[in-house]
Amino acid sequence: MNIGIDKIGFYTPHLFVDMNKLAVARNVEPEKFTIGIGQEKMAVPPITQDSVTLAANAALGILDDQDKEQIDFVIFGTESGIDHSKSAGVYVHELLDINPYARSIEVKQACYGATAAIQMAKGHIALNPESKVLVLGSDIARYGLNTGGESTQGAGAVAMLISANPKVMVLEEKSTYLTKDIMDFWRPVYSDKAFVDGRFSNEQYISFFQQVWERYKEKTGLGLDDFEAICYHLPYTKMGLKALRTVLDEVTEDVQERLTTNYKISTTYNRNVGNIYTGSLYLSLLSLLELKEDLQAGSRIGLFSYGSGAVGELFTGILKPNYREHLFVETHTKLFDSRREVSVEEYEEIFQNTLPTDGSNIELDIENDPAHICVSGVIEHMRQYVNKLR
Ligand code: HMG
Repeated sequence: MNIGIDKIGFYTPHLFVDMNKLAVARNVEPEKFTIGIGQEKMAVPPITQDSVTLAANAALGILDDQDKEQIDFVIFGTESGIDHSKSAGVYVHELLDINPYARSIEVKQACYGATAAIQMAKGHIALNPESKVLVLGSDIARYGLNTGGESTQGAGAVAMLISANPKVMVLEEKSTYLTKDIMDFWRPVYSDKAFVDGRFSNEQYISFFQQVWERYKEKTGLGLDDFEAICYHLPYTKMGLKALRTVLDEVTEDVQERLTTNYKISTTYNRNVGNIYTGSLYLSLLSLLELKEDLQAGSRIGLFSYGSGAVGELFTGILKPNYREHLFVETHTKLFDSRREVSVEEYEEIFQNTLPTDGSNIELDIENDPAHICVSGVIEHMRQYVNKLR
């Protein structure tokens, strides 16, 4: 049975900060952020957006009434969830009016969560071929003002509808994966900001890629020249390039050029959003699919997923005929074009303006947030969500 991505959508908040200006404010040469890290703009989430609303807004843009009737499983991958017990999937299920006879859960393994969700969705559809699964990868990446990780923050969500006979991409069966208990990046339950050993995390990312790649070649007999492109989890856009470069000498110069050119295209959206953790790999895939207009049906795309802590996986997809007709290019172009730049001072103020953690109530002004779905406040420890389209 062919199972894969039937639809794919994205959402990011309407505000961003320019990395050149952030660099100046941090006394760093702008090229360090724009070339060394490879980021141009960083999404800034207002207090009226959280991982639930980002995901709901991403899914809202792609689902029709028939999808909502057929979805019987919502799997929400996140590492910036809002509750230790209730899953973010349940909130999204309600906000989007999905058929009540569905399962809704949350899964976590750092940035690997949405990949785990996809693999779970494949198993579910293999047993229930009529079903559609909504997979969400949604996060707000926070390291803190003036920290080493600050330039790799971001916010956004990717929503994917996984089904049999998908319209965009069939996910192939063979994949290779790896788990190792390491402390490269983590966020204890008492902290709203991540802790990270930056250099170690970079080394581990590359090492995980090399290990799953070697195993993938042994398992499948395929080589790098069988790939049109490889999309990477992108904590920042230079990271995947560092991993790709370690294997490029396995192929001819022509193939090296193809993979490097396609890598660059696959990083365009991420370069303008920042790290969105669970959604980052799929934002990179979206960037490639939407911006490289001459990708041929039948092309094999590699997907390298990495979630600190750490779990890595390499898997692949084959593009379907006429896949472009089923993308939401215009919606995403408008989303990027309608964003507003904030100054570094405004970004710092927004960063520090967080929801109360002492149990007090708060009512938020959602008029200034153009998103359809927003957090409107907190009452008696319960976040209040509004879908303005209702
Ligand atoms: P840093 O210490 O600020 O930067 O940390 P650096 O000194 O390593 O410099 C970065 C690059 O800029 C270097 O390039 C410099 O040479 C270059 P490289 O040698 O690495 O190719 N550079 C310049 N280039 C041009 N012009 C200049 C210039 N100056 C310097 N003037 C670091 C960078 C990424 C470590 C930091 O931002 C950080 O800790 N970020 C968070 C952790 C992270 O993103 N790790 C990535 C792998 S782990 C992962 O992907 C999982 C994750 O998404 C979490 C999850 O799974 O949930 C993070």
